[in-house]
Amino acid sequence: MTNKSKPIISLKDVSKTYGSGHSKVDALTNVSFSIHAGDLILIKGPSGSGKTTLLTILGLLLSPTRGKLLLGDRLDTSVSTPAAASYRLNTIGFIFQSFNLMDSLNAWENVALPNIISKKAKKKAKARAFELLDSLNMKKRAEHFPNQLSGGEKQKVAVARALINNPQIILADEPTANLDSKTGATIVTTLCEIACRDNRAVVIVSHDERIEKAVKRIISIEDGKLIHETVGGHDNYCQHNHL
Ligand SMILES: Nc1ncnc2c1ncn2[C@@H]1O[C@H](COP(=O)(O)OP(=O)(O)O)[C@@H](O)[C@H]1O
Ligand SMILES: [Mg+2]
Repeated sequence: MTNKSKPIISLKDVSKTYGSGHSKVDALTNVSFSIHAGDLILIKGPSGSGKTTLLTILGLLLSPTRGKLLLGDRLDTSVSTPAAASYRLNTIGFIFQSFNLMDSLNAWENVALPNIISKKAKKKAKARAFELLDSLNMKKRAEHFPNQLSGGEKQKVAVARALINNPQIILADEPTANLDSKTGATIVTTLCEIACRDNRAVVIVSHDERIEKAVKRIISIEDGKLIHETVGGHDNYCQHNHL
């Protein structure tokens, strides 16, 4: 797909090998692609094909074994530099399959956490957390703790948390896997709207075939290799806006 804007993130021949000797696993081999503002990408492939590894590298939570990562104008090959940490905090929002909420914090505190780390005033962070929760119909649950929330509600808190620093790119690893199909559809619709409305990039890893209808780009991965890229049903979806 051609896109003339500058990519937010590019991967160039990225490979990842876990372990060594007999336990060596080549999880990714020579993967190259770019993500631009407004992109809405589904990454699909069988279990063990390297999807989570790819998303974790895109999220700068894991360094590639070989290859390059281009962040805006800068080349970065290590996730442990201060520049990479700052990029991660301000540019990337991550949504995990297992929600990853802090049990000791209530919903709005979980949402506000990345904002408090970035030293914005706590009061402002709280107001923004409430605003985001409200936009996901979660205002009434703002003071509830994770163990008082359903799976879908927890995932909405995780979505709000991923959005609080207004990231340019949102990465979601199987965000609907632990949800019933109706709640999963709400989460996917929300993610797709974010890309449509706010011109951010959204990358979703999923087995959920319904997502193919909503996205712009479908990247298929098998055995750690990018097999092909196809066009999703996004244009049609945007007009009807439902799954
Ligand atoms: N931390 C790790 N250490 C060793 N091997 C791993 C690790 N994480 C993933 N793998 C292996 O890498 C391959 C790709 O895994 P993963 O990226 O989780 O795939 P997917 O998300 O598509 O299921 C699998 O063979 C998996 O067993
Ligand atoms: Mg995975």
